Amino acid sequence: MDGRRRDRASFPVALAACTPKAETEAPTATAEDASAPIPTESGGGEFTLVGTTAELTQQGFLTSDAFSEPVIVIEDPTSAGALIALSAKCTHTGCTVAWQEDLFACPCHGSKFNPDGSVVNGPADKPLAQYAAKIEGDSVLVAAS
Ligand code: FES
Repeated sequence: MDGRRRDRASFPVALAACTPKAETEAPTATAEDASAPIPTESGGGEFTLVGTTAELTQQGFLTSDAFSEPVIVIEDPTSAGALIALSAKCTHTGCTVAWQEDLFACPCHGSKFNPDGSVVNGPADKPLAQYAAKIEGDSVLVAAS
């Protein structure tokens, strides 16, 4: 007799556990959502906030904390409002390149790179890696591409 009562008592609980959520319930945002990385449209990587537009000088700026290598970010001199972001690590032996008027130049052995990262002259023989970059509001966002 006591065993039967226990079985009946647990039945409604099992039913409630199997009832699907109402379709009208919308997911609620959490504080964690606001700090989540921003997915890229291309699916390459996630955009990371690296600075502000106020920090962009004619030489751009260098970010070294967000990625595994330093990344140099400049305003694209040929397209207003667009950015160029490249690895700042010279592909010759790793010195840090800098933007100089219309090229990225390496101070160590004189390699020069186009704004797209391709080699103008060596001794470096490989291009600088490209990163995706964009401006949202006054934020500069960069993602590995
Ligand atoms: Fe850049 Fe040698 S490290 S040219």
